[in-house]
Amino acid sequence: MLGKHTKLFFAVSLFAVVISVILATWGFPKIVKKQIQKNVQLDESSQMFEKWRKLPMPLTFNVYVFNVTNVDDVNEGARPKLQELGPYVYKEYRERTILGYGDNNTVKYMLKKTFLFDQEASGALSQDDEVVVINFSYLAAILTVQDMMPSIVGVVNGALEQFFTNLTDAFLRVKVRDLFFDGVHVNCNGNHSALGLVCGKLKTDAPPTMRPAEDGSGYYFSMFSHMNRTETGPYEMVRGRDNIKELGHIVSYKGKASMGGRWGRDPYCGMLNGSDASIFPPIDEADVPDKLYTFEPEVCRSLYASLVGKSSIFNMSAYYYEISRLALASKSANPDNKCFCKKDWSSNHDGCLLMGVLNLMPCQDAPAIASLPHFYLASEELLEYFDGGISPDKEKHNTYMYLEPVTGVVLKGIRRLQFNIELRNIPMVPQLAKVSTGLFPLLWIEEGAELPESVLDELRHSHKLLGYVEAVRWVLLCVSLAALLASGVAVLRAGLLPVWPRNNSVSFILSPHPAENKVH
Ligand SMILES: *[C@@H]1O[C@H](CO)[C@@H](O)[C@H](O)[C@H]1NC(C)=O
Ligand SMILES: *[C@@H]1O[C@H](CO)[C@@H](O)[C@H](O)[C@H]1NC(C)=O
Ligand SMILES: *[C@@H]1O[C@H](CO)[C@@H](O)[C@H](O)[C@H]1NC(C)=O
Ligand SMILES: *[C@@H]1O[C@H](CO)[C@@H](O)[C@H](O)[C@H]1NC(C)=O
Ligand SMILES: *[C@@H]1O[C@H](CO)[C@@H](O)[C@H](O)[C@H]1NC(C)=O
Ligand SMILES: *[C@@H]1O[C@H](CO)[C@@H](O)[C@H](O)[C@H]1NC(C)=O
Ligand SMILES: *[C@@H]1O[C@H](CO)[C@@H](O)[C@H](O)[C@H]1NC(C)=O
Ligand SMILES: *[C@@H]1O[C@H](CO)[C@@H](O)[C@H](O)[C@H]1NC(C)=O
Repeated sequence: MLGKHTKLFFAVSLFAVVISVILATWGFPKIVKKQIQKNVQLDESSQMFEKWRKLPMPLTFNVYVFNVTNVDDVNEGARPKLQELGPYVYKEYRERTILGYGDNNTVKYMLKKTFLFDQEASGALSQDDEVVVINFSYLAAILTVQDMMPSIVGVVNGALEQFFTNLTDAFLRVKVRDLFFDGVHVNCNGNHSALGLVCGKLKTDAPPTMRPAEDGSGYYFSMFSHMNRTETGPYEMVRGRDNIKELGHIVSYKGKASMGGRWGRDPYCGMLNGSDASIFPPIDEADVPDKLYTFEPEVCRSLYASLVGKSSIFNMSAYYYEISRLALASKSANPDNKCFCKKDWSSNHDGCLLMGVLNLMPCQDAPAIASLPHFYLASEELLEYFDGGISPDKEKHNTYMYLEPVTGVVLKGIRRLQFNIELRNIPMVPQLAKVSTGLFPLLWIEEGAELPESVLDELRHSHKLLGYVEAVRWVLLCVSLAALLASGVAVLRAGLLPVWPRNNSVSFILSPHPAENKVH
């Protein structure tokens, strides 16, 4: 009777060991992975979906503007002195409108951003602050004309004097409210022949920063109002249902699978790589990606952040990525980048000789130049133009993100970008006849995301659960091994196993009465 039970006990615990080994090495990880995938994929039933569709918290959108404090001297050819003012803090709300689901497990959507000024966070700064900044729209117009038809730049400037009322120099005296969102009026009611040319060109393809006035009298120029007014897209994004590694990957933007046409024939620069930075696939700890790509429609290209290492933030482990010097490198430092510098942006440079700048002409049809704030990671040569106010600092001007590996959620991320335009000496144009040529910054933006405490708690909670699952898996294995050992001993004791050869030391140790086990 006893023997039968012992045998059964042994068989059951052996079975349990096999099962728990399978579970521990294959079953549990698979189940956990499946569960995580279920929660992060873009599916209406997943936990992530609603948070992705409508961000539960606003992002911060900070603007720093460069006030020129020695305009009169700059007009006489002196080096500019700048005063950085900011941050002017805005709350940025994001909401996606789902248009439908595509063939290859993709979701199509439009992205709507809404900006609201946050007076409390801005402190003493007010949207009514008056600043003196480089006149971006005027220089954009004059540089475009000079690059296309240098001989008529004087004539066109005559028209621009009507178009831009009170055009005395290359600087704009403006309230930040108007520069950022509300708009500076530019006039189309004039009778200069070239004015028709300028306004006609605007009518056919106005850059996004130019908004037509309701009364038809002209346009309003502002840096960000188009972002507040219009949805962008459609984007088409992989939902990660059949391959979680592809989650969040943008496969098309505005119906096109690449930005090819804008950057010339080389396919590299037009590639849509990575996500829109809202979502990333979970990180496989055995194969941590060393580059994280994001597609940035504002600059018409993909950028990447490089893996720096494992880190910890908000008491959670995370992978830390930051923008690499190579992403905006000159073509000599990163030959891949040569297609980004197809067109000249300066009479002195072909742009591609300088580190850390990106010509936005092919992207925004305006001769704007993007860089990191204060020309961080850019050529030192750019700094020589200034008489103060520009000092790159990694802490303040870097772009980075902390990624939670289990879910691929961005725990904290900051993206920074500066917009510049060339101030060019053009003898034929009275307003520009004496200035010295250089790359002039207008402002920079800082877009930050940090998960709110409630979401962090949710994440910590699921980490705890994962910890339990992990513990259970080993506890199960240990318990079943212990049971196996116990039943094994019992079996041996009861003499139910065939006897090992007598002089076998193992059987001698395991079996308390070796003599009794002798088969006669
Ligand atoms: C910007 O600089 C000008 C001098 O060029 C100064 O008068 C003005 O007060 C400055 N604006 C702010 C907001 O400090
Ligand atoms: C789906 O994927 C296949 C193969 O990758 C591709 O040929 C096809 O064009 C894709 N369909 C759509 C609608 O993107
Ligand atoms: C953005 O647009 C909304 C209306 O859509 C408006 O209420 C808000 O004031 C705008 N934001 C800014 C900063 O102008
Ligand atoms: C242009 O300058 C004149 C005199 O300097 C001033 O009265 C007028 O308001 C200015 N117009 C604009 C649109 O700034
Ligand atoms: C600068 O450009 C704006 C249009 O953005 C124009 O209305 C303004 O008169 C110009 N200001 C100066 C001082 O030239
Ligand atoms: C049109 O031109 C005439 C002379 O060239 C000038 O006197 C008049 O003020 C102009 N009208 C407008 C609206 O600029
Ligand atoms: C896009 O991704 C591919 C594959 O990961 C890579 O080879 C290529 O360099 C990337 N292109 C850009 C513009 O970053
Ligand atoms: C991190 O953990 C420490 C101790 O466990 C705690 O004192 C601290 O408040 C935690 N910080 C956050 C941000 O939760």
